[in-house]
Amino acid sequence: MRKHVFAGSLLAAFTLATPALANTPDKAPPHQKWSFEGATGTYDKASLQRGFLVYDHVCASCHGMRSLTYRDLEGIGLSDQAITDLAHSKQIAGPVGISGMPTMRPGLPDDHFRSPFPNDAAAAAVMGGVAPPDQSRLAAVHPGGADWLYAFLTGYRMPPPADAPIVPGKFYNNWAEGHMIGMPPPLMNGAIQYPDGTPATVEQQAKDITTFLVWAADPHRNERHHIGKGVLAYLAVLLVLAIAWKRKIWKNLKSHG
Ligand code: HEC
Repeated sequence: MRKHVFAGSLLAAFTLATPALANTPDKAPPHQKWSFEGATGTYDKASLQRGFLVYDHVCASCHGMRSLTYRDLEGIGLSDQAITDLAHSKQIAGPVGISGMPTMRPGLPDDHFRSPFPNDAAAAAVMGGVAPPDQSRLAAVHPGGADWLYAFLTGYRMPPPADAPIVPGKFYNNWAEGHMIGMPPPLMNGAIQYPDGTPATVEQQAKDITTFLVWAADPHRNERHHIGKGVLAYLAVLLVLAIAWKRKIWKNLKSHG
């Protein structure tokens, strides 16, 4: 009995002390259905392509994705020509000119994605002190994975809850650490248009960019699976040959013996 009273007052004290936490779901983010889930999951190519569009039009103005080259986009189904055109439309830092000034040149398929800032310090200076993290491995390194990314991108609260502290330059997000984040809400309904006609709601964009970020964290997974299957097929052929060979040898030995 005493124990219960104690636990009850502890709970009450905790709830009173942390009003901002009391009304926010801090546990596991809700699970979404993902095309790439499970052993047989494969990436939905249309979603990957829409996700790249979101990255390119929205996220890339603040976040780099240094580990990917434009040619890697073959993996989401872009044609050689589309990749060359895309790379060409980006201005990449070239060699230092004769006058000692930096130069720019159009990108090539083997260039890595152009970063919006020359380095993290420059990014932090522009972004109010915090550099936007490189997105190459974002989906792989965040413990919440795809479900968290989706929850986070759709988790802004405007206006923030009445009891939330007001911090200049920070935005209220249910799924950010401490509910405050230096990134303004990046997604807006209809801010981009999908060429395939899919309505570009915040939820749809969040789903597509998350799919793209999960793919981008390991763009060669599909190829590896292909190679793995090839190796297995090769070993199977070797095994059949070895058995046939063994039988032949034993047959010869027996007929001689
Ligand atoms: C206006 C610049 C800007 C844009 C556009 C932008 N971000 Fe950010 N992003 C930031 C900054 C700055 C941070 C670091 C904020 C912080 O730590 O307080 C950040 C952090 C993040 C984080 C890490 C959050 C965490 O708690 O670890 C994720 C995930 C993220 N951004 C995803 C995206 C995605 C996806 C897009 C495109 C849909 C995008 N961002 C567009 C500026 C931007």
